[in-house]
Amino acid sequence: MAKPRDPAKTAPRTGPRHVAIIMDGNGRWAQKRGRPRLFGHHAGARRVREIVSSCPDFGVKYLTIFAFSTENWKRTQTEVAGLMSLFRRYIMKEMQEFVKENVRVRFIGDRPRLDAKLRGLMDEAEAMTEGCTGTNLTIALNYGGRDEVTRATQRLARDVAEGRLRPEDVDEETLPRYLDTYVLPDPDLVIRTSGEARISNFLLWQSAYAEYEFIDTLWPDFTAKIFGELLSGYGARDRRFGAVSA
Ligand code: IPE
Ligand code: IPE
Ligand code: MG
Repeated sequence: MAKPRDPAKTAPRTGPRHVAIIMDGNGRWAQKRGRPRLFGHHAGARRVREIVSSCPDFGVKYLTIFAFSTENWKRTQTEVAGLMSLFRRYIMKEMQEFVKENVRVRFIGDRPRLDAKLRGLMDEAEAMTEGCTGTNLTIALNYGGRDEVTRATQRLARDVAEGRLRPEDVDEETLPRYLDTYVLPDPDLVIRTSGEARISNFLLWQSAYAEYEFIDTLWPDFTAKIFGELLSGYGARDRRFGAVSA
């Protein structure tokens, strides 16, 4: 007989298709244990797989996670170098697993500032999972919403200057085509862990009508069970997009 499914894992019918997560609280999680911040980042990275693997059960087709912001360079050199090395190792270690789980991996953010080895691994991960048709995992690495809109505007302005686009044809559909997220739908739900109620420059344009969940749990303590509970709560919401409920 088939094993009964964990009710928390049953996909809510009206669940979000695209969930974005601001994975915050790694540093505090480590500090609480008297350990260096990087210990928390490693624990946080280990959580990612569980959440990615739970997406098909929950009907989440797109998962976008904030791994490193354009502002995170302000941290100590030790922390930044540790994070970069963690990203390199993470990609090397997890890629086969993602292919096996049919996860399509993409990266958003400003790549030129990242080191060549890391950029190479990112390209490789994207190429290796190009044919995967399951969960779409997007990792925001050196990502900032303002930076993304600024880079998009530069490319758009170039198209205008070179005669490929007329200013009067620029509408709300035009700019998103220049954003890093051009192949993704807008997020339906944005979750931030660790108790901070701010979005810290994440998906500014794309989240205009997203629902938000700010929860106290620190990212390394975030489980698939907690994820499932948040998703069930989402089903009860009435998203009106400026209109009046039917
Ligand atoms: C989030 O955890 C991970 C990154 C920003 C890279 P933090 O490192 O911000 O953890 P806290 O907020 O200091 O606890
Ligand atoms: C946001 O967290 C960025 C990531 C989770 C990668 P931060 O910890 O950097 O944000 P602030 O500094 O609290 O706004
Ligand atoms: Mg933080």
